[in-house]
Amino acid sequence: MTTAAPGQQTGAAPRSGLSPAPPHILVVFGASGDLATRKLLPALAGLASQGALPENFNVVGVARTTWTDDEFRKVALESAPEASSSWTKLASRFRYVAGEYSDAGTFTRLAGVLADCDDQLGTGGNRVYYLATVPDAFATVADGLAASGLNRPSSASSTARLVVEKPYGHDLDSALELDSALKRSFEEKDLFRIDHYMGKETVQNVLALRFANAVFEPVWNRRYVDAVQVTVAESLGVEHRGGFYEHAGALRDIIQNHMMQVLALTLMEPPATVDALGIRDEKVKLLRAIEVPSVDAAAGSVVRGQYTAGTIDSSPVPGYRQEDGVDPLSSTETYVAMRLAVDNWRWAGVPVYVRTGKRLPERLTEVVLRFHRVPHLAFGGRLARELQPNCLVLRIQPDDGITLHFGAKIPGEAFRVRTVKMEFSYAEAFQDPRADAYERLLHDAMVGDATLFVRADEVDQAWRIVDPFLDAFEDDAVPLATYPAGTWGPREAELLMSGREFGWGVP
Ligand SMILES: NC(=O)c1ccc[n+]([C@@H]2O[C@H](COP(=O)([O-])OP(=O)(O)OC[C@H]3O[C@@H](n4cnc5c(N)ncnc54)[C@H](OP(=O)(O)O)[C@@H]3O)[C@@H](O)[C@H]2O)c1
Repeated sequence: MTTAAPGQQTGAAPRSGLSPAPPHILVVFGASGDLATRKLLPALAGLASQGALPENFNVVGVARTTWTDDEFRKVALESAPEASSSWTKLASRFRYVAGEYSDAGTFTRLAGVLADCDDQLGTGGNRVYYLATVPDAFATVADGLAASGLNRPSSASSTARLVVEKPYGHDLDSALELDSALKRSFEEKDLFRIDHYMGKETVQNVLALRFANAVFEPVWNRRYVDAVQVTVAESLGVEHRGGFYEHAGALRDIIQNHMMQVLALTLMEPPATVDALGIRDEKVKLLRAIEVPSVDAAAGSVVRGQYTAGTIDSSPVPGYRQEDGVDPLSSTETYVAMRLAVDNWRWAGVPVYVRTGKRLPERLTEVVLRFHRVPHLAFGGRLARELQPNCLVLRIQPDDGITLHFGAKIPGEAFRVRTVKMEFSYAEAFQDPRADAYERLLHDAMVGDATLFVRADEVDQAWRIVDPFLDAFEDDAVPLATYPAGTWGPREAELLMSGREFGWGVP
């Protein structure tokens, strides 16, 4: 999917097949923050050690903390202590601009540093500006870049792209507002909205599984599939981000973005081409086919929950309301389960169940396709009851892989059938370590491949689907159920499937 222009490498041959990106300066707004130090700098260190960064490359950090260049370089080295010598060499030339984003002087100083880097390193005027800062500052930064002329490429052959972190708005109206604010300064083709799930190899492998194999696609529809379930479970709580989570909640934090992206890839029609246009056109068509319920209908097809004190890995953990930065009377949801319907030819009548939660027993992201029972049961009585329908499980994390659950005869005289599993494990099949999601996405932004980034119409449609559920929560039309940390969520979540012969997961 990448189409890198050639550039010189800093180190060994690429490990994960990423070609060296073209000359660039990556400007990280929010360089002193959690995302930059915990994810972005280590991802860059990973790219450096794979030889996927060009020789003519630099990072410029911009934030309020009054660091010097040397202090920022030290942070970069500490963020990836095991990194290669190529990272040490690279980090030794990083630059830092201390300043407030609403101050025009910050951008004047930034422009000076960028010009310096272009002169000294031959970075060719190519920029990726990464908004790893608070969402309230997204539009301010884009305006600041535009006011100092940094939003436009400096020549016909150079590029200026803006990578935008989540959350992209907190509902449809705010997402549309943010979009028009960013488009004052950048064109859609230069806006790269991150959903780090899209950078995961296993999420991309959904495409390979579906469209590179003749065996799956013919059964990937309402004639064969009885129900679809998507689970994103986390065993962690809110950690040190209680204040942030209070304003987000599970619906905004996980369902509107990551789960909608996974659903779209799993259920969309085959694209004509595997590129930014082909994939994103099909994803948005699928999202448009997901029924947008009324607020009343939404309230009847969703469960919201919040964890109370419990036990994870045999250790006691506090309840959500006791976490730092959380209101002791908070009604923010840490768990959501919902039923969706896809109104199109392929999926009409197939319920799609989605659930996510914090402080669940394990970290797990998976898609389960549950197939219809066989049309005629040649084996009667108990045998027939024991026979489970086939399930195909796409495991995205951890232990990424694919499992097919099917019936096999138990050896012996009596004709008895038991469900057995056929497993494919990524780790076993491919020895090479795979690129981390942020490595992949940073690299794609530099080579200008938008395939794994989210287009404006996808974001908007995902909010259209989620907004009625948010409204139902806000109107208190959905009771807040509780669940002890370390359990699989409120019991009410099972009731979403009442009348069906299955519950969550694989029988
Ligand atoms: N952290 C994660 O794991 C994670 C995961 C997914 C997405 N995200 C998204 O990534 C973004 C950053 O999150 P974060 O957790 O890294 O936030 P954070 O730790 O609060 O960092 C915010 C950064 O922005 C800078 N900043 C904020 N307002 C500024 C202003 N007016 N002028 C100049 N600098 C300003 C801060 O600078 P100073 O501290 O120096 O003042 C800091 O460097 C958010 O959009 C978040 O939703 C984060």
